[in-house]
Amino acid sequence: MAYLELRNLQTHFRKNGGSIFSPKVETIRAVDDVSLSIEKGEILGLVGESGCGKSTLSRTVMQLLRPTSGEVFLNNESLTDLSSIEVRKRRLDFQMIFQDPYASLNPRMTIFSTIEEAIKQRHPLIKGKETEERIIRLMETVGLDPAVMKKYPHEFSGGQRQRIAIARALAPEPKLIIADEPVSALDVSIQSQILNLLRQLRDDYQLTMIFISHDLGVVRYIADRIAVMYRGKIVEYGEAESVFHNPQHDYTKRLLSAIPKLPATA
Ligand SMILES: Nc1ncnc2c1ncn2[C@@H]1O[C@H](COP(=O)(O)OP(=O)(O)OP(=O)(O)O)[C@@H](O)[C@H]1O
Ligand SMILES: [Mg+2]
Repeated sequence: MAYLELRNLQTHFRKNGGSIFSPKVETIRAVDDVSLSIEKGEILGLVGESGCGKSTLSRTVMQLLRPTSGEVFLNNESLTDLSSIEVRKRRLDFQMIFQDPYASLNPRMTIFSTIEEAIKQRHPLIKGKETEERIIRLMETVGLDPAVMKKYPHEFSGGQRQRIAIARALAPEPKLIIADEPVSALDVSIQSQILNLLRQLRDDYQLTMIFISHDLGVVRYIADRIAVMYRGKIVEYGEAESVFHNPQHDYTKRLLSAIPKLPATA
């Protein structure tokens, strides 16, 4: 069995539709029979247009949403069979990095307190010097100068804030990182720095990652394998380069043609 296995996952939402005269309940199949395997240390790129179900799939993997049916296995353990209490404990193993690091960081907490809080989730009894040493190590790992640890999020640029969010995600020593559009809000020049950092972290710590983006160009840059999602289903899956150079599904071809091309002389 692969490190992370999704088997026939379905997550449906019920929505009241129709008119008040004939109320009918609609089912939204946000995740519709998804099966995927991800090996340890692998980066899976999950790509697809807005509303296709990428975030719902990632929330289901983490059991923030319980699936309508199907199973999630991490390291041979079925997460879908766990009680809510057990799931809460396991959730430390999954950390997320979001699109907007400013919204996801508490503006009233210094970088020090932000990372300290995240370390304490895993090591509640840690204190003093050991905490500080860990914070310094984490800041160095993500390319931040530890001298700025007493500053607040608003004192940093977008790229630096995303580094802080990555340090916070690493602090509880997760097994799996789900990065949901982590570079979409950043300048192109900063995007590649953050992508390189994530790749480096994968190499150094054998981290397993699901990297979500609507941009196939970005996903190709970082992912080992790519899964293309369309209306709740995985319509294409394979090695990143082969999906990129030899797409099978019409939807993937359309995504590819949407990547802006620079003129050859530029
Ligand atoms: N809590 C919810 N209740 C009802 N419907 C939901 C809920 N969350 C998501 N949906 C619906 O499920 C579908 C998939 O949404 P989801 O947010 O997973 O897409 P996405 O691929 O992450 O989109 P985006 O790229 O815009 O973030 C959409 O039709 C959305 O409206
Ligand atoms: Mg989303």
